This record gives sequence, structure tokens and C-alpha cells, in this order.
Amino acid sequence: MLTDIKDLATKLAPRLIEIRRHLHSHPELSGQEYQTAAFVAGVLSSSGLHVQEGVGKTGVVGELHGTGENHRILAIRTDMDALPIQERTGLDFTSRASGIMHACGHDVHTTVGLGTAMILSQLTEQLPGKVRFLFQPAEEIAQGASWMVQDGAMSDVAAILGIHVFPSIPGGSVGLRYGALTAAADDLEIIIIGESGHGARPHEAVDAIWIASQVITTLQQAISRTQNPLRPVVLSIGQINGGRAPNVIADKVELKGTVRSLHPETRANLPAWIENIVANVCDSYGAKYQVNYRQGVPSVQNDYVLTQLLQSAAEEAWGCERVQVLPEPSLGAEDFSVYLDYAPGSMFRLGVGFKEKAINYPLHHPLFEVDENAIITGVVTMAYAASKFWSM
Ligand code: NI
Repeated sequence: MLTDIKDLATKLAPRLIEIRRHLHSHPELSGQEYQTAAFVAGVLSSSGLHVQEGVGKTGVVGELHGTGENHRILAIRTDMDALPIQERTGLDFTSRASGIMHACGHDVHTTVGLGTAMILSQLTEQLPGKVRFLFQPAEEIAQGASWMVQDGAMSDVAAILGIHVFPSIPGGSVGLRYGALTAAADDLEIIIIGESGHGARPHEAVDAIWIASQVITTLQQAISRTQNPLRPVVLSIGQINGGRAPNVIADKVELKGTVRSLHPETRANLPAWIENIVANVCDSYGAKYQVNYRQGVPSVQNDYVLTQLLQSAAEEAWGCERVQVLPEPSLGAEDFSVYLDYAPGSMFRLGVGFKEKAINYPLHHPLFEVDENAIITGVVTMAYAASKFWSM
């Protein structure tokens, strides 16, 4: 099977690079992936898959029926959306959409999904069950996975595999991780209400700006003293609004931020922990407060057995030297975790860094580039892991 997959991948390579460049030059924002979805549906249909469009708003589902009798469905998820970034790479196939760029490699993910479908569609007599390809919209706003799930994309799915490019891993290599891969990402809003007054007479007012600064400082210090250092919590306030004039004491400050964590129990305790600190600081100085904590996507927790499946597929295909078991998770977020409420899954990192370049720009950077040789690595790894799924 591996030889068949590698031969087909080699033949398909020029077409896959063409597909990736087409997608790269026509990026679409989250929830607006109309052309991308139509393109994906076209490729899947011409490969003989059963295609359903408009799943999860602008998502596409393609199902490939193997000739075997196994009823366990394997899902393969790739995401399709781009970011509101003005590309500056100057590549021949640079974005033609002003202010929109595939700066997170979702063009590569979509291509890997399509390539895997194209290859496995030629090997159906060797497939014991069904593979369901989920082409998801709106990953960057962490909503697409929920939309797909609401439209039944995960019904009867036994397991799910995913992929994300990673520029700090060299092109042609694969990164895997057992357990936590990404963090839970929650939204935090704190409103502090004081009492306005003259800037010259602070004792007659309640200074919401000073109290807000105490809240921020106390939260950051309290993380280091009251959270288990082996269970990371990152709290970043990215927005602060308050005050009307230099000589008027502000009566209201709004703080907005993101809260990242890896352990479900730690996460569950965070809203009360934050509220308690805000309450203590505000009470000390006579301010009122409101804390709004909204849970976003959970942490991606890779399943042990499915990660083993990916590891053995990648090692057989490329040799151990091109497979890294990653020692650390990322505190980035990924809505692949939403699917994991419905079936176990594992997501691998596809190295796309250029070995010869001194700088590989990070994801979400206007100069982010991809070593396109990695596309074949991704396609073969995914297709081969899929083919081994029913025998594991
Ligand atoms: Ni991404």
C-alpha cells in the first residue's frame, strides 16, 4: 500500500503544487470560503467522492467508500480559510485578494486533504471502510468546527485525523505529540467602575485607571504564586479602554484579554480564580466590577493510539530521522478540539520550514512561506495513516 501511495503521490505532485498555488492566490476570509469550497467540491467530485456542499455554512464534506465491509468511519479534517493580512512575500502566486493572505498554511492543508482524497480514490479496493473528508471553514475565528458538527459532519465517525503546518520544523519532516497539542483559549473581559473626579483631588474620587493597573499586576503576580507552575496559565490583556481627559479621573475602564491553559481542571477553576482577584482589588479601593469570562475552544488532546498510528505511518514512509515527537505543546489554539468531543483524534504538525533559509517567518506573518516539497510528505503521511486505520 505504501508503495502505491508514494507512486501516486509522485505522479500527482505537479498537480498538487498547482492546486496549492491556486488556493494561495485566491484566499478567502473565515466564513466566506465560497470559491474555495466550490473548487474543493469540484476536485472531490471528479475523484468520484460523494460530495455535500454547504455543510457548516461554507464547508464541504466528501465521502469515499472503500470496498470493504468495515463500518468504522475515519474522518480527515482540513481547514480552508485565510487571514486579514496583506501579503508581502512577492511570490509569483502571491495573494490576489487585497488584505487577505493564506498566512496560516490552510492552503496547504486543503491541498493535503484533496491530495489524500485523490490518492485513496484510486485505491478503494484496498480500503476496508469509509473515509469522510471534512473541509472546514472559519478555523481562524474558532467557529467552523462547531458549524460542521452542528450539520452532522461527525455523525458515526469513529476517529478523526488533522494536520497543521509548522515553519519551525523543516520541510519533509513531521511532528507528533501525545496528549496536549494546543491550549484552551478563553476570552476575558473585566469592567472596573470607579467614581469620576478632578485629577487634582484623587481622594474625592475612585480612580478606575489606577485600580485597573492594580488588577492587571495582581493577576500576573498571582499566576506565578497561586497557579501550579507545571500546569501553565497565560493571561494576556490585549486591550484597555478608559478615561476621557488628562485631568479627569476615569470612572470606568474596560480590559479585554485571552486566557490560555492546558489542563481541563485548571481551566475549570479559572473564572472563579480571576473573579476573586478582581473582587479583592476592587473592594480594597471602593470600586465596582464586572467579570465576563467566555469559554472558547478547548485544548487539543491527541489520542494515544491514533498518534501511534500517525507515528508508525510517518516512520515507515520517511524513516525515524524525519519524524519528531514534540516535547512541548503550544499555547496557541485550534478548533480541531471541538471534534474531539465526538470522537478520538490526533493532529500532526507538517514541517514546512526551508532548511537553507536563515529565517523562517512564523505563522500569521505577512512574509510567511512554505517549502512546497512538504505537500507530498503531508499527503503520503495522511493517506498511509488512513489506509492503516482499520487494521490498528
Ligand atoms: Ni491555522
